Parts: sequence; structure tokens; C-alpha cells
Amino acid sequence: MTIQTFAVLRQIPNGDAIPRRNRSATQRQYARAALDESARLAGLPTHRWSQDADGVPVFEADIYWSYAHKPRWVAAAASAQPVGIDIEHVVPRRLEMLDEVATAAEWAIVEGSLATNDVARSGGPRHSGGPPPLGERLPCELRASTRAEPQVGASLRGSNGPTALLEARIDQTASTGDPWQVFHHVWTAKEAILKAHRVGIGRMDDCTICGALPAGDGLRVRFECADWLVRFHRHADHVAAVATRHGGVAYRIMPG
Ligand SMILES: CC(C)(COP(=O)(O)OP(=O)(O)OC[C@H]1O[C@@H](n2cnc3c(N)ncnc32)[C@H](O)[C@@H]1OP(=O)(O)O)[C@@H](O)C(=O)NCCC(=O)NCCS
Repeated sequence: MTIQTFAVLRQIPNGDAIPRRNRSATQRQYARAALDESARLAGLPTHRWSQDADGVPVFEADIYWSYAHKPRWVAAAASAQPVGIDIEHVVPRRLEMLDEVATAAEWAIVEGSLATNDVARSGGPRHSGGPPPLGERLPCELRASTRAEPQVGASLRGSNGPTALLEARIDQTASTGDPWQVFHHVWTAKEAILKAHRVGIGRMDDCTICGALPAGDGLRVRFECADWLVRFHRHADHVAAVATRHGGVAYRIMPG
């Protein structure tokens, strides 16, 4: 795999403790430094990283870039090729979000990517330095739970209720692998592609997962008739995703 894009993750020390009014400025400062580092690694000149009045990146001199920030981590990538990046803190979300983020067919593809990881576990080829497999427990199991629950839940109304039952199921699956890890892979993949296109998450429904990458660390996703290759990295309770057309991505952790 020829590396063409370096994705840089950088920690914001004590980022959670930064007063809310200063948080955005600090996150941007860290993200821009990570962008500089990404450009340097790719042999690109550092840049002004201009944004329009809505904060949307402005690409100049054929250099594409994207960054994302959470309170404790930022992620950034600059490239001579179109690129989008996202990072999310893995935390439980509303169960309804499983349906909002992907269809049953898409979840099945994500589930299929486990087959690749099984090959890897049995000694088959695996991309070295890649993130751990896409989780042991899949949101489609949870989707099956949500579907089955109305009848079960109806009989439970007035006691623990269906919501409590579903939450209990999440707890059970979480004991053998966090199902929300997988959810965040899908979420970040789609958001990264939308950012590469400079559109908002309102277009998430227009992103379709078409396949898993052979190395088991990524997904192929279609948006506006173009295929994007998304590569993931899991780090410190966060999931990062980089979307490119070529797939040649390497992750680097930059000291805080
Ligand atoms: C762009 C968007 C996906 C970013 O998601 P987010 O989780 O809020 O923020 P992230 O940390 O991932 O990224 C923030 C960075 O994305 C970049 N960005 C902003 N708008 C962008 C766009 N349209 N396309 C690509 N990148 C964008 C900026 O660099 C921003 O950093 P800044 O705070 O320094 O301006 C989201 O804010 C969005 O959808 N905005 C458009 C509004 C919209 O369509 N809303 C739909 C509601 S359903």
C-alpha cells in the first residue's frame, strides 16, 4: 500500500478541564498544528488552512485538508488528494441511531468484515500496524433486538419497560466487546466522506457502505457515484476515520 496521506492524532492534555468558552479555540489550535505535521509528513508545504465564513475548508494550491476535534483528541490530514477525517469518542448512543446511520444491508457488510478478521486471527494476511478488528459484537445484533422487542417490550411495560431490556442487552454484549465501537466506525466513515465533499451530516443517508477492505481495517463507501476508501484507527476510547479515494493512509500519534 503506497502511503499518500498521513492522518495525525494529537491529544489535548486535560482537554476536558478546559473552560468551555476557551475549548473551541484550543481544539482548533491543536488541530492546525496536527495539520502542519500531516503536511510535513506528506512532503507538502504548510498552509494557511483557510476556511470560509461557515468554517468550511477552502482548498488552495491543490492541497486538500480536513480536521476534527473532540475535547481530548484532535485528528487532521492534509493531502494532495481529496481527504476527509473524523474522530469520535466511543460512548453509548441512542439505539435509534443504529437505524439512522446505516441500513440493514450495510450493517450486514460491516458484519461480513469479521470474516476477514477471522482469517487474520487464524494466521492469514493482515495489514500490520492497523487497528484492532471491527469489534466482536455488532450493531445488527442490537438491531435484531430492537425489532424483536416491541412484543416482548409490550409485556414488560409497567415493569422495567422495553428500554431497560434493551439497555440490559447492550450491557451483556459490551462485556464481550463494545458494540458502540462498531457504530462509531460507521458514523466516522460516513462523516469523513461528507467532510471530504464539504457537505454536512444532513447528507449521511446518501452514503452507502458497499464493502469491507481486504485488510479488515476499513470500508468502501459510495457517495455521489464515487467510491471512497475509509481506514480506521482506534485509540484511547476514540475512533478515527480517514476517507480517501486511494486508501493509502497511515496514522501517526503526535505528542500532545
Ligand atoms: C461539518 C460537520 C460534519 C462537522 O462535524 P462536527 O462533529 O460538528 O465537527 P468535527 O470536529 O468533526 O469537524 C469540525 C471541523 O470541520 C470543518 N468543517 C466545517 N464545516 C465543514 C463542511 N461543510 N465540510 C467539511 N468540513 C467542515 C471545520 O474545519 C471544522 O473545524 P472548526 O471548528 O475549526 O471550524 C457538521 O458540523 C455539519 O454537518 N455541519 C453542517 C451543518 C449541517 O449540515 N447540519 C445538518 C444537520 S442534520
